[in-house]
Amino acid sequence: MSKPTKRIAVTGGAGQIAYSLLFRLASGEALGHDQPIALHILEVPSMERALEGVKMELEDGAFSLLTEIRIGSDPYQIFKNVELALLVGAKPRGPGMERKDLLAENGKIFIEQGKALNEVAHSDVKVIVVGNPCNTNCLIAMHHAPRIPRQHFHAMTRLDQNRACFQLAHRAEVSLSEVTQMAIWGNHSSTQVPDYVNAKIRGRPAMECIRDHTWLEGEFIRLVQNRGAEIIAARGKSSAGSAANAVIDAIKSLFQPTPAGQWFSSAICTDRNPYGLPEDLIFSFPCRSIGDGLYEIVPGLIWNDFLRAKIEVTLNELLEEKAIIEKEVIKR
Ligand code: NAD
Ligand code: LMR
Repeated sequence: MSKPTKRIAVTGGAGQIAYSLLFRLASGEALGHDQPIALHILEVPSMERALEGVKMELEDGAFSLLTEIRIGSDPYQIFKNVELALLVGAKPRGPGMERKDLLAENGKIFIEQGKALNEVAHSDVKVIVVGNPCNTNCLIAMHHAPRIPRQHFHAMTRLDQNRACFQLAHRAEVSLSEVTQMAIWGNHSSTQVPDYVNAKIRGRPAMECIRDHTWLEGEFIRLVQNRGAEIIAARGKSSAGSAANAVIDAIKSLFQPTPAGQWFSSAICTDRNPYGLPEDLIFSFPCRSIGDGLYEIVPGLIWNDFLRAKIEVTLNELLEEKAIIEKEVIKR
């Protein structure tokens, strides 16, 4: 007997990330090739015609798992009964901007969408925020959706994890599958902390395999922190194919049990975190899933002085972003 259909909302449906993401969702890559899905796709009214074109293309894909496509610009209609909400729709930054420069404009989107999810989504909905600045946008949505458990909110740092894994594998001349336990701590921004100290290569500490610690402390961290800006400088547009790929990876990691000895990165609510960080922030941690979107933060990782200092910087940035939204964006 076939499984019941899972309803997935995707916002920003006519944008560049969605154009890579929707077809991969429809093919069953994220939730499995036996899981029927319905796509509920949201856009702003001015992009609805373009979204109709995307819908036509999804139909023309003849995806056997795709049982229904709903499109529209009212989040209260589109989010009805969704069990997974991928909040992609937001303005991307341009050259020379930091992601937090988008807060005033994009933050408002997440007030409305948080409220709509609160009112009409499935009670067990899991939310992954991609639109930048994703950690603080996620905090805004979470605050406006008190009915939804706080642990169900994520901001995507999987792209940063993937970037870091590639760089370590490349430097150590090993295959990507041999790089494990790569955590990203903190904000999806240029202060994020890619944790090479606890990462493993072929099951051994990455620092034993890559002897050039100056590279790890310097170029490696800077490269991962600034990769998004580098892509914008080269392409004239922000990352899209790799971002959509990271959304697929993030969903798989969250819904499938994490293999022993591994973890994945996701920015989640700091309430009762085992690292003593202040509560009520969305902060990236190493996580392990037990399946179906239930996860725990990996406890007990060692922060050496170098990591601790960097983590303080990214934490302070998130506290500053929170102070901004408390003053200007979260007005109930
Ligand atoms: P894009 O401009 O190509 O597409 C965004 C789409 O969102 C547009 O079609 C726009 O009309 C739509 N939109 C805007 N407001 C909306 C709303 N209220 N409801 C529904 N749709 C709305 O941008 P993109 O390249 O697809 O990027 C989307 C966002 O993702 C940006 O904020 C970008 O910075 C961010 N991003 C995050 C990561 C990450 O790793 N977290 C990676 C890449 C991009
Ligand atoms: C990225 O990391 O590529 C995205 O967050 C887009 C950006 O603004 O850098």
